[in-house]
Amino acid sequence: ISSLPKENGWVASHLYKYQGFWNPARHVRGILTCQENFEARNSDVFLVSTPKSGTTWLKAILFTLINRKHCPINQNHPLLRNNPHDLVPFLELKLYVDNQIPDLSTLNSPRLFATHIPFFSLPKSVHDSSCKLVYLCRNPKDTFVSLWQFSNKLRLQEMGSNSLGEAFDMFCRGVSIYGPFWDHVLDYWKESMEKPHKVLFLKYEDMKEHPIDNLRCIAEFLGCPFSEQEEALGMLEEISKLCSFDNLSNLEINRTGKLSSGEQNKAFFRRGEVGDWKNHLTAEMVEKLDHITLHNFSGSGLEL
Ligand code: A3P
Repeated sequence: ISSLPKENGWVASHLYKYQGFWNPARHVRGILTCQENFEARNSDVFLVSTPKSGTTWLKAILFTLINRKHCPINQNHPLLRNNPHDLVPFLELKLYVDNQIPDLSTLNSPRLFATHIPFFSLPKSVHDSSCKLVYLCRNPKDTFVSLWQFSNKLRLQEMGSNSLGEAFDMFCRGVSIYGPFWDHVLDYWKESMEKPHKVLFLKYEDMKEHPIDNLRCIAEFLGCPFSEQEEALGMLEEISKLCSFDNLSNLEINRTGKLSSGEQNKAFFRRGEVGDWKNHLTAEMVEKLDHITLHNFSGSGLEL
């Protein structure tokens, strides 16, 4: 684990590089404990994402989709009383924190976990088993703006600087939580191309534009496709509506509640739109970020 040189200031002094990616010490400890102890099952489902790419949204969707047989969408649905982060825990941020080793063996299959762990740092059993990974990313301009807003709101020293310019420079150099952003995305992209049965690669923008098609595609990938009857009953539209930004962000639990880890639920719902970067980034910043993205993704077939 190498730490950043001192001249990068107080933010950098809170980030460490582990297996090619930057993270606060707490996260690195979580990843290490997870790598050493987590045992994947073939039936496990992992939601993997870059931070601020819509993880909260996809948690809601996957939870609802996978549990739809025994958790019908009605006024008792767990999403109406719980923030998605309390329903789908992060492996390295919730379950394996502070060197704790949780007993996950009693959980019913299919178990659903979330993680931001980079592809090559995933626990070995995840690579070796036939579990499934649903990967979500978002264009880097909106991802960066969302990350910066989130860090400021929660005053997370470890996640970013208070100045947009400083945070932007670091993001561009790959120094952001779970960064370099482009390496994180590319590793999963390549795996999804090589093993489409193992990794489903999703984009926030595409989910916003085609929510129903994406739902259908996720269900098929996970081996729990919607039946003709479910389609006819409008189940896809119901799930999409339940998990929509408008619905989730206006629920009492998400307006006033807190996560068990202490963060305010409302911090995970800001604008929920594509293209908010236009309100925050200068033309020069946009050009720089677009250039880095083009350069990093060139030849991969991936566009964000
Ligand atoms: P903005 O800051 O651009 O609004 P994550 O869940 O990975 O932390 O990402 C948070 C981003 O996803 C925030 O983006 C948040 O508003 C947005 N988001 C949260 N719930 C959403 C939903 N149901 N639909 C669309 N976007 C959502």
